[in-house]
Amino acid sequence: MSSHLQETRRRRTFAIVSHPDAGKTTLTEKLLLFGGAIQMAGSVKSRKTSRSATSDWMALEKERGISVTSSVMQFPYEGKIVNLLDTPGHADFSEDTYRVLTAVDSALMVIDCAKGVEERTIKLMEVCRLRDTPIMTFINKLDREGRSPIELLDEVESVLGIACAPLTWPIGMGKRLKGVYHLALDEVHIFEPGKNFARQDSTIFQGLDAPGLAEKIGAEAMRELREELELVQGAAPSFDLDEYLAGRQTPVFFGSAVNNFGVQLLLDFFVEHAPSPRPRATTTREIQPEEEKLSGFVFKIQANMDPAHRDRVAFMRVCSGTYSAGMKMIQTRTNKEVRIANALTFMASDREIVETAYPGDVIGLHNHGTITIGDTFTEGELVTFTGIPNFAPELFRRARLRDPLKMKALQKGLAQLSEEGATQFFRPLMSNDLILGAVGVLQFEVVAYRLKDEYNVDASFEPVTVTTARWVHCDDPKKLEEFREKNAMNLALDAAGELVYIAPTRVNLQLAQERWPQVRFAATREHA
Ligand code: G4P
Repeated sequence: MSSHLQETRRRRTFAIVSHPDAGKTTLTEKLLLFGGAIQMAGSVKSRKTSRSATSDWMALEKERGISVTSSVMQFPYEGKIVNLLDTPGHADFSEDTYRVLTAVDSALMVIDCAKGVEERTIKLMEVCRLRDTPIMTFINKLDREGRSPIELLDEVESVLGIACAPLTWPIGMGKRLKGVYHLALDEVHIFEPGKNFARQDSTIFQGLDAPGLAEKIGAEAMRELREELELVQGAAPSFDLDEYLAGRQTPVFFGSAVNNFGVQLLLDFFVEHAPSPRPRATTTREIQPEEEKLSGFVFKIQANMDPAHRDRVAFMRVCSGTYSAGMKMIQTRTNKEVRIANALTFMASDREIVETAYPGDVIGLHNHGTITIGDTFTEGELVTFTGIPNFAPELFRRARLRDPLKMKALQKGLAQLSEEGATQFFRPLMSNDLILGAVGVLQFEVVAYRLKDEYNVDASFEPVTVTTARWVHCDDPKKLEEFREKNAMNLALDAAGELVYIAPTRVNLQLAQERWPQVRFAATREHA
């Protein structure tokens, strides 16, 4: 097998989806511990010093070093290379999360055993379903009293519409937690508080009849376990790799992230069964990861990661071929050649210069405003990866400057921050307004804070009569010109220079659509 093929096959690129507080950060930290990527518990955790939405983000900003390295975490485990892509925590950042999910091959869903399926998990699952992303499930906080495991599986099946194949089964819960039974390995792993639960220091019994097991967990727990297993093994499907890969069945693990209990069983199963890089659709054809020529797309941009250097980094997922330092690539949107000498990788806790990267890996490209989300890079073939949308924002505000002399800096700040994709920046054709669109209201606060912090611009955001935006397309250039003239009042250019209809009301939008049947009004801008 060629080394490219070998490297591709051993990649596992995934993201964790969960409702806030279910334990994503804690689990991430434990996974990194197993990968040897961090020595000490707490380094991921430290970014979450505050709970409230706004200050959570501000704190994250202050701890930027940590938040940056944790946006992509690569670690080796059992001969595999695991790439864990972080998804932003706050609900307002759902668009970013959506795009991160376009760059993974599978997902891990974390559920709090006391709370069950929560609202944000439902939303994230919908996104995964759109792409049939394979999903594993970790039911967390077993050390606390929660709902019955059977009830939890029922809820996942009925609310999320995915079949559950339990791989481990809890023996008790909360104070009565004795351990888990691994259905596929036929092993009982005992829960002994204070242990670190790596395989070598776990107490493991082979099979339910193993000598000493009944004494260890007690006759009552033993009887309950046998009863439940009988029920579960009769009712629940057993793990089916194809069903999992098709996104129709989710293998389920139980454990306690904070205690590290049940985590390694999950990780072992994950690296064995989770998919290696999968083929990706482009505008012209499907690209296979095994192909020798490099291709990749940008799914995330982060501005000013290092305030001292005022840099912006574009995160590119490699889809095929091999990246090596110094190679030339074509940015297909502009058909320009770029030489990439100093791409970043995100191994362990430092940014390092990467020499080679393979499908499934993410590299960071230094961006000087020429790269936008959705950009495709290849070795020459003019294709564009599809399915990385920009959503129409639902909230709009006009930027108001306290010091009019800072206009240039304001424009630059708004444009650069919009590159990240969480907000969108519109310049109306007929006025000098700078309008910012966002999906969540928190974004305006975040942008105002960052304008001050990173661009030294004091700006606020005030209401503006824009209700919704649509990207405008028309195959007939003459018609488009006519449309442009007649509707100039309601037209703007986005940061990339694309024409956008900014509608004062929904009724206005509807009327425009009826009047101009040849014009397409798109709610998302597929990056092309
Ligand atoms: P998130 O990233 O999904 O938002 O969740 P995070 O890991 O931050 O966990 C949320 C809270 O749940 C944290 O408590 C964390 O310690 C706790 N937690 C995580 N896993 C377990 C578990 O297995 N059992 C129990 N009992 N708790 C768990 P916190 O009080 O918000 O923070 P901290 O002060 O404990 O750090």
